[in-house]
Amino acid sequence: MSYERLDKIIASTGRWSRREAKTLVREGRVLVDGAPAAGVEVKVDPEASEILVDNQDLGYRRYSYILLNKPAGLLSATEDNRQETVLDLLSPELRRIGLSPVGRLDKDTEGLLLLTNDGAMAHALLSPKRHVDKVYYAVLSAPADETDRAAFQNGIRLGDFTCLPAQLDITEEPTEVFVTLHEGKFHQIKRMFSSRGKTVLYLRRVAMGPLQLEASLGVGEFRYLSKQEVNKLNTIAQKK
Ligand code: URA
Repeated sequence: MSYERLDKIIASTGRWSRREAKTLVREGRVLVDGAPAAGVEVKVDPEASEILVDNQDLGYRRYSYILLNKPAGLLSATEDNRQETVLDLLSPELRRIGLSPVGRLDKDTEGLLLLTNDGAMAHALLSPKRHVDKVYYAVLSAPADETDRAAFQNGIRLGDFTCLPAQLDITEEPTEVFVTLHEGKFHQIKRMFSSRGKTVLYLRRVAMGPLQLEASLGVGEFRYLSKQEVNKLNTIAQKK
């Protein structure tokens, strides 16, 4: 059980600011367990109580989990003075509930990016201990071959570190590949291919742990994770 002030709970949905939430309560438009809320300072357990605004369920979620199909050209950050970030794709309401990207994709990389305001989950998923698999689709400047596959499997040595063994799957078109990483270092895929004399022309993340980027989610679109997906992430995050 966790009790919070009513205005804070209402504002946490991102649909109203704290000030607007206070007004809703004052105008008697908020019912808690069937009775008009007595005041904003009333503390309520939002998971145990029914909260209605204008007779509609508040739709309270303790945390939000969003899967974004990131387009190229945006930074994986929450704010930047000069450049657009992935948060610019969200509505003003969603922009004010404290979402952050879990990890980063390069500015020119597309694909699956998880956004959440569940800091503990984000921290756990990013921990090197958890080895959350990430799968990327890449288009290369030259065909990949068996020697590349073996090199990825053996762990490519990059100037400052040796990569964990990675899986390279070469498609029927050998300039198009899938790479599965168990870690996530800065520019890792580009650097791995560069060490093999190849340039990555296009990069898209297609999976991260149990999350898959489905073809129906267009570039720049996003969706909420399902309950099952959140449960799977929680299981990974809680592993010791
Ligand atoms: N590897 C890269 O080189 N770039 C990314 O954005 C992700 C993985």
